[in-house]
Amino acid sequence: MEKYVIHGGRPLEGEVTISGAKNAAVAIVPAALMVDGPCVIENVPDIVDVMLQFEILEKMGVKIEQLDATTFRTENNGVDLEGVETFEQMSKLRASYYFIGAELGRYGRARVAMPGGCNFGGIRPVDQHVKGFEKLNSFVRVESEGFISAIAPEGLVGNHIYFDVVTVGATMNVMLAAVFAKGQTVMENVAKEPHIVDLANFLNQMGADIKGAGTDKIVINGVEHLHGGTYSIIPDQIEAGTYMAAVAACGGDVLIKNVIPKHLECICTKLEDMGVRIEMYDDSVRVRRTGPLRHTNLKTLPYPGFPTDMQPQMAAVMCLADGSSHVTEGVWANRFRYTEELEKMGAHINVFKETAVIDGVPELSGRDVLAHDLRAGAAMVIAGLAAHGTTTVSQIGYIERGYEKLVDKIRGLGGDITRVTD
Ligand code: EPZ
Repeated sequence: MEKYVIHGGRPLEGEVTISGAKNAAVAIVPAALMVDGPCVIENVPDIVDVMLQFEILEKMGVKIEQLDATTFRTENNGVDLEGVETFEQMSKLRASYYFIGAELGRYGRARVAMPGGCNFGGIRPVDQHVKGFEKLNSFVRVESEGFISAIAPEGLVGNHIYFDVVTVGATMNVMLAAVFAKGQTVMENVAKEPHIVDLANFLNQMGADIKGAGTDKIVINGVEHLHGGTYSIIPDQIEAGTYMAAVAACGGDVLIKNVIPKHLECICTKLEDMGVRIEMYDDSVRVRRTGPLRHTNLKTLPYPGFPTDMQPQMAAVMCLADGSSHVTEGVWANRFRYTEELEKMGAHINVFKETAVIDGVPELSGRDVLAHDLRAGAAMVIAGLAAHGTTTVSQIGYIERGYEKLVDKIRGLGGDITRVTD
């Protein structure tokens, strides 16, 4: 079993470059299925989830060519949707459900394994995805053997869809299904994350007609087909935030390159509240922390609120702040399992329903801890880098689903981390 061994207690110094956004890539790669002709996707993060998706596309019959470390060319000259052998890969990742929107959108039918991926205390629902697909004139069934199937025998027809919950996944998935739907689709109460805008920009670059991504209302006029083209994925807001949090926890001075400042506003504000010095440039941010950390409070909300995917990482920083910090999780029912791992390292945390109260301590001690999910794992790496002594983080498969070259990047900043196999 693979794990990270971290010798903590050193400040981070130097430069790190952010990769393409995971949560944009995991929707854009399946969307390549919808494009007639060659499609070149740049700034693709080299992470397990995305590489699995290219594997799934290839098993379906899409031609995949890697042009360089972060650029892939896809060409769909006809696919076999029955490729049940993709079941194994599909069920490993949450974002497998974007294949439903892409297949249903292009072929009027889809059969995809129920999503896997990180779960925060329970099955992650797909009712809003189903609602959107049905509103577009399709029939959706959750099959007993773990598949979701959707079919539109009379073709997809545009409709007015009001989401009961602001959901990233359903917003992206229904957007995919609506690209070719006859007439106009209006989606309201939609998610506005940067990756929603990125998916819409990718589809429009290929010939779709999508307006309003990034606002509460998206309007899609169905088109006949998507031509080929080239598109570059935006930098990963959460990867950048994770390195910002690491500097805050460890101290030091790091220049984080290839970012979009607007996407980091919330994270910058919170870290500045804690006494971290931040200088924003056109496409990079300098993060310094030399003095003590001040406590702060945060509540996670859909964008432009504080991102839930930064919640565990910020909690790790708060463990070392003066005073008591409150973290309220406003998106997921239960995203605090990682706090028990931080407590093993000496953190003082009490969780009351959707709020964690973190009483700062002078230092954390290295321990053997687990990564319970992707961002919880990132929080444990941050805690290990800041702690005195040696920390091992197990179950790192979660972490490597979403962070490209994590060990190399941390070592490049002077962090002492090694990937070992038990
Ligand atoms: C995406 O998950 C991200 N994953 C998550 O990031 C992120 O935490 C989440 O969006 C919120 O930003 C990917 O993009 C692959 P949601 P998703 O649908 O789409 C409820 C990471 O760390 N809901 O926006 O699955 C749901 O229970 C991962 O990179 C319904 O009720 O999240 C939750 O409370 C972890 N019905 C809320 O909406 C539905 O049909 C937000 O979920 C769908 C969701």
